[in-house]
Amino acid sequence: MASLEPLLSRDQIERRVEELAAQIRRDYADGQPLFLGVLKGAFIFLADLARRMDPSPEIDFILLSSYGSLAHSSGQVKVLLEPRATIEGRDVLIVEDIIDSGLSLQFIRDHVAQRRPARLRVCALLARQRLLDEGVQIEYLGFPVGEGFLVGYGLDCREQHRTLPDVYVIDEEAP
Ligand code: IMP
Ligand code: MG
Repeated sequence: MASLEPLLSRDQIERRVEELAAQIRRDYADGQPLFLGVLKGAFIFLADLARRMDPSPEIDFILLSSYGSLAHSSGQVKVLLEPRATIEGRDVLIVEDIIDSGLSLQFIRDHVAQRRPARLRVCALLARQRLLDEGVQIEYLGFPVGEGFLVGYGLDCREQHRTLPDVYVIDEEAP
């Protein structure tokens, strides 16, 4: 049996999502960006964030191959689902659940940039403190986090625990 250690409560998350949404509303007062969610982990965060925008923003998604073991062998990431929205000339906001190695984010930024958006920014619920210390830039960040594997609020561990309303550190080795 895995053990789940609470890290972020639903109330903490809700308050932070509102703060991020307020910041995004202010920064894009002239017109909403396209919300580009990274499947699957970001779907709950994106839903909560996007529902705090007014007017309703356009929403699209991108799905990458989950590279797991691939990352270690080749670092290759593939796009399994391309966004269908117009990107050229638009303000695009990439919405991610967690920036871990930063590899996916780097790939998505480069990939989307090829379609020549007017402005490309990132909103991530979580990012490893280690990356922030290395100077990785994330325009809108919910919470810096340590090294434990996290589940809940969209984040899964082999498709488990995604729908938990709070975020937990999972210890699969626990008795
Ligand atoms: P990257 O290492 O920054 O490329 O992270 C890629 C993706 O791995 C993230 O967008 C998440 O979907 C997933 N991921 C990384 N760390 C965790 C975690 O602690 N829990 C759940 N998913 C994670
Ligand atoms: Mg993700």
